[in-house]
Amino acid sequence: MIYITRRERFNAAHRLFREDFTDAKNLEVFGKCSNPNWHGHNYELYITVKGIINKQTGFLVNLKRLSKMIRMHVIDKLDHKNINLEVEFMQGKLASTENLAVGIWHELEPFIHELDTELHCVKVVESENNHVEFYGN
Ligand code: NI
Repeated sequence: MIYITRRERFNAAHRLFREDFTDAKNLEVFGKCSNPNWHGHNYELYITVKGIINKQTGFLVNLKRLSKMIRMHVIDKLDHKNINLEVEFMQGKLASTENLAVGIWHELEPFIHELDTELHCVKVVESENNHVEFYGN
């Protein structure tokens, strides 16, 4: 089994908050990410797929096709968007990096088999200090 990772980038706005909390309570629980006037992050997305090397090409996957697939099913839905308001697959969820990683997995996973490979990991980097990895369960 071999693994390969493609990085893509997007920027998006969000706010971490609960309607049933006061602004003070939201600040206490969610910190700066609870700012009522939104804020943005320059996210990095690392998509890792796994499989066996194609003997004809020496590749696991065509990275150009993988990149196109990630952009079509994930990046185009998130880039320059407000995650809370505009991203369909995040509606009704807290706009946390954790929920984003799970959401991205579900957007992408049904299509990955078209590349004769399997999704292994969705890694979302929110800042240089914080990132989340999701392995599908
Ligand atoms: Ni934030």
